[in-house]
Amino acid sequence: MLDAVLGLGASLGGRRANLALAVRLLDADPRSRVTRTSRILETAAVGGVARGPFLNAAVRVDFRGSVGELLGLCQDVERRLGRQRAPRWADRAIDVDVLWIAGRRVRLPELQVPHPRLQDRPFALGPLQDVAPGARCAHSGRSLFADTRQEVVPHAVGVLAGPVAGVYRGLPSRTPLRAGGAMKFFLDTANLDQVREIAAWGILDGVTTNPSLIAKEGGDFVETVAEICTIVNGPVSAEVVAENPDDMVTQGRLLARISDHVVVKVPLTVAGITATARLSAEGIRTNVTLCFQANQALIAAKAGATYISPFIGRVDDISTEGMQLIEEIVSIYANFPELDTQVLAASIRHPLHVSQSALAGADVATIPYPVMKKLLNHPLTDSGNTKFTADWASVPDSDIVGQVQRYLDKTGR
Ligand code: E4P
Repeated sequence: MLDAVLGLGASLGGRRANLALAVRLLDADPRSRVTRTSRILETAAVGGVARGPFLNAAVRVDFRGSVGELLGLCQDVERRLGRQRAPRWADRAIDVDVLWIAGRRVRLPELQVPHPRLQDRPFALGPLQDVAPGARCAHSGRSLFADTRQEVVPHAVGVLAGPVAGVYRGLPSRTPLRAGGAMKFFLDTANLDQVREIAAWGILDGVTTNPSLIAKEGGDFVETVAEICTIVNGPVSAEVVAENPDDMVTQGRLLARISDHVVVKVPLTVAGITATARLSAEGIRTNVTLCFQANQALIAAKAGATYISPFIGRVDDISTEGMQLIEEIVSIYANFPELDTQVLAASIRHPLHVSQSALAGADVATIPYPVMKKLLNHPLTDSGNTKFTADWASVPDSDIVGQVQRYLDKTGR
């Protein structure tokens, strides 16, 4: 068994999400178990190539395998998170380095442990110290932190899926690694034509409505919800509008009778949480909405909510990172596997919100119609398809159906 510390770094894309996903992938490998996680530090890029800034962190792992296999796992995680070959010091989506292995000194062309330039890299040394404060060089026996030359202590911007230097309890039952379940796509609308159009794509998993969306379409609330339930074979959120728990529960019970697809949407207020706990106890599914901080999500989960809806766009609107809220909630829920509330990323404003929610491990994204349409757009797809179609026109026999039919007849298949 190897007791090792791996350094994580990211400067591209959803950096926190990339770090969090790397931890999950490392822990999901049957040979390894993440035992501790560090702070997340933010540092300017070094080396003059990358734009940065980088987020750096570290995890301590127990690994059942050889040093070579551990290096292979690090490279596999980098590949799975989309790391491209890039020059040294370049920006990257994820970097996973073996920083230290207890009792081992490795001097191979492809791997040197402890990392030879560790002393000059406070962004690696700091997280390493978080998770292995007693780390010593296997060769000299000296503490790795005895003669640190760092002068600038990097700025800590958070912690990695657990308390500082804490025990990593979570794991990774959340969506990206859960067998058979990619992130679900709900449509965030009360417009029936939009629901019909996107449902016809064959990938729509559900719909969310809210009082504003219903008011915008101008139709009858119950008729609209009922009609959506006939189009979509999945959860359809319909929101209660009441001031007190008793009225919310009454409305919720009635809405749930419209169709088995209905999920009762409840605001994240004291009255709403009280109603959620009562509806959940009756087996009625709930979507607790208007979530803007992690504690609210924890409380909603304790009340038995089926879904929690963090509003990432509205958080972004007040100059705070909405995606960080998704990451925090996913991490908290992962720490307590008995909570089975699903994270539903709401208030999505653009395609990046969707891919970043998936990276962060959200179970569901509810997506407005215009954003849904943009998800498939790429100019190179369009130009490539135009060229394929034009080139096909010069093929002598372009009738695929006829050609295949003749082939089937000839071969008797
Ligand atoms: C979905 O459940 C929410 O009601 C919706 O996503 C809110 O989005 P908005 O912030 O764009 O109104």
